[in-house]
Amino acid sequence: MTDTAALPPRVLLERWDAQQTAYVAHRELRFQSMLDILRLGLRESFHVLDLACGPGSLSDRILRAFPQARVTAVDYDPVLLRLAGDVLAEYGDRATVVDTDLVRADWAEPLAGERIDAVVSSTALHWLSPSQLLRLYTALADLLPPGAVFLNADHLRYGPGNETLSALSDRHDAEVQRTAFGAGADTWDAWYELAVAQPGMPLLAAERERRFADRPPQPLAPLHFHLSALRTAGFAEVGTVWQYLDDYVVFARR
Ligand SMILES: C[S@@+](CC[C@H](N)C(=O)[O-])C[C@H]1O[C@@H](n2cnc3c(N)ncnc32)[C@H](O)[C@@H]1O
Repeated sequence: MTDTAALPPRVLLERWDAQQTAYVAHRELRFQSMLDILRLGLRESFHVLDLACGPGSLSDRILRAFPQARVTAVDYDPVLLRLAGDVLAEYGDRATVVDTDLVRADWAEPLAGERIDAVVSSTALHWLSPSQLLRLYTALADLLPPGAVFLNADHLRYGPGNETLSALSDRHDAEVQRTAFGAGADTWDAWYELAVAQPGMPLLAAERERRFADRPPQPLAPLHFHLSALRTAGFAEVGTVWQYLDDYVVFARR
């Protein structure tokens, strides 16, 4: 589907959400589990860092659910950053969107001096290799005060020894995608084509191409890797708060 008329940011976000739900069957449930942990585990007023925020889906849900919360949303894709900025503008100074590359050692520099009470991420950290993940988790442990929480929602694929679960997850993914695309959801490629056809986007799309040209898919980092890496990084308590097949929400407390 490729309509090129200018679309309001919220319409693009809704179509992004439908597109992502084709790849993440229970995306709203995993978001809800993250909101529950923030509500139950933090004071009323808190500052959340949304890592690899995309167009702002999770930040938007947090800002809507917690009227006293602030969110800093970071990403490295200029197209998605522009959209996140447009979508989150309605929250005024409760939302800040920051361009930073999580792979770089100095990615957290723009956050210097900020107190962060929670870090969240969804469907994103699989872009990082296991060594980059360990470095990120170590940086987060340095950044966060005692008691702060980390929540990462992602497909953490089954590895050797879990062939049956792996095959069932693949079949479930295929079934969910068939149903979603049959019902009219955009594919990833179709959504991007639509987004970069919006006014002001073509230059940002070229910059995106440049930035992501050397980012091949990364080796598998299964659940046990994330839990061990978080412990090694210095988090006091680690575990999971939600799971559906190979889709998890990992929890860690500083
Ligand atoms: C599938 S999207 C998920 C976006 C959003 N969290 C959501 O759930 O809708 C993956 C995101 O990871 C971001 N990303 C990938 N590598 C990154 C990096 N090195 N630094 C910052 N963001 C990155 C991409 O730009 C993209 O926005």
